[in-house]
Amino acid sequence: MSANSPAAVVVLAAGGGTRMKSNRLPKVLHEVCGRSLVGHAVAAAEELTPGQLVVVIGHMREKVAEHLAAHHPGARAVVQAEQNGTGHAVRTALETLAADGVELDGTVIVTTGDAPLLTGGTLRALAGAHAEQGNGVTVLTAVVPEPFGYGRILRDEADGAVAAIVEEKDASDAQRVIDEINSGVFAFDAKLLVGALAEVTTDNAQGEEYLTDTLEILRRAGHRVGAVVAADYRDILGINDRVQLAHARRLLNDRLLERAMRAGVTVVDPATTWFDVQVSYEPDAVVLPNTQLQGTTHLGEGSEVGPNSTLKDTRIGAGARVSNTTADSAEVGELATAGPYAYLRPGARLARKAKVGTYVEVKNSELGEGAKVPHLSYIGDATIGEGTNVGAASVTVNYDGVNKHRTVIGAHCRTGSDNMFIAPVTIGDGAYTAAGSVITNDVPAGGLGVSRAQQRNIAGWVERKRPGTTSAQAAAAAAEPAAEVPAEG
Ligand code: UD1
Ligand code: CA
Repeated sequence: MSANSPAAVVVLAAGGGTRMKSNRLPKVLHEVCGRSLVGHAVAAAEELTPGQLVVVIGHMREKVAEHLAAHHPGARAVVQAEQNGTGHAVRTALETLAADGVELDGTVIVTTGDAPLLTGGTLRALAGAHAEQGNGVTVLTAVVPEPFGYGRILRDEADGAVAAIVEEKDASDAQRVIDEINSGVFAFDAKLLVGALAEVTTDNAQGEEYLTDTLEILRRAGHRVGAVVAADYRDILGINDRVQLAHARRLLNDRLLERAMRAGVTVVDPATTWFDVQVSYEPDAVVLPNTQLQGTTHLGEGSEVGPNSTLKDTRIGAGARVSNTTADSAEVGELATAGPYAYLRPGARLARKAKVGTYVEVKNSELGEGAKVPHLSYIGDATIGEGTNVGAASVTVNYDGVNKHRTVIGAHCRTGSDNMFIAPVTIGDGAYTAAGSVITNDVPAGGLGVSRAQQRNIAGWVERKRPGTTSAQAAAAAAEPAAEVPAEG
């Protein structure tokens, strides 16, 4: 907490979110760009390094509390058992802190758990204006094209100052025309807030304690009521249903892509490219269409990913190329390549210039520098040395039905096509294996591992057993010219 930090940020997240029509998830746990709605609110709040960061929870509170503990341990959950309004929610938070002996002195920011586009920067601007103007309360407002449903900002005709906020359900027809709305985000003087909340009644259309009533209460008591109008109304958009959820995701994604492009990333098709908030990159990375970068995925300088790729928590090295690939918790080294049609599962690690080709799945395995698995293979729980080439259609048979075992293939090996490596098994450096082998025993360095039955041919089988077929006719035609020449042996 620095000198300018607020004493507390209170995030309101107890509401039901009935319009999400979800039986499984409270509204604030729905995600946009790799973070829950409440997670976005907490992340913005954390940028202010507040003395206390409180999230008021209620609806499906066990799930929200668990989520906060797992992903946002800096936030403290306070339960509002019954949702008696936004004023009641803030009062509950402050009373819980007071009961713990926390005395708030300075600014309290109140924000909502359902506005994922709200940034720490906007909260900082609000707190800054609040302090500078010496206000008792400062509200973040916005001028919106569709004010329906929001609380409207009533301004004093004489001086233009904010006089009160009136809720949609309590507003007169004349008030409903007002297009400046309450974002639900405020900066308060802590002591004045406590006093004003004590005066809030439930005398309104919803029978709730409205936080918004505190503005009129403070103004009447002679305190300054200020407002900061959001530069872009989209920054304060709240989510009530899944249409707004998709809209917010699109807006946040556009923001993330713009930031990436300004930092030197080429995004060929922003309309089909999706970034999560924690994605990072270096200049000259190229993202081809229909690509999702999720979690903490990182793109190295000059790397190229996509088209049609989904990369989660994956590191792509400088100059690497990954196409038509699904990857999760994988590492693709500098100048390495994956795909088209590769599946890199957790623990797949490709060293510099390694290659995982078409229809290849890799899990919990390391490929050394320049090692190649070009076609149609499964590599699981394996170590493959540098410069080794694994033949097409090979499988590391890692699972005995109970336990997983490792396959170790040394450096500069050439393994044949269609090999089964029955783990645990080790192939020494520089060894070869023959195509079609089932390798159950270790192969020494420089040796050739071969395990396959001797082939035998039964002459004339098709003409005897499949007479009249096109195969038999082809066989007969092939035999004719040979008939002119006396058969050898
Ligand atoms: C509220 C504001 C309105 C503003 C709008 C912005 C009031 C009375 N009205 O209206 O002026 O334009 O937000 O989106 O404040 N919550 C609780 N406990 C409760 C009730 C609500 O934690 O008892 C939380 C909700 O989870 C939500 C936020 O407070 O995050 C706002 O509640 P909501 O019911 O959505 O308020 P609105 O009617 O939209
Ligand atoms: Ca409401």
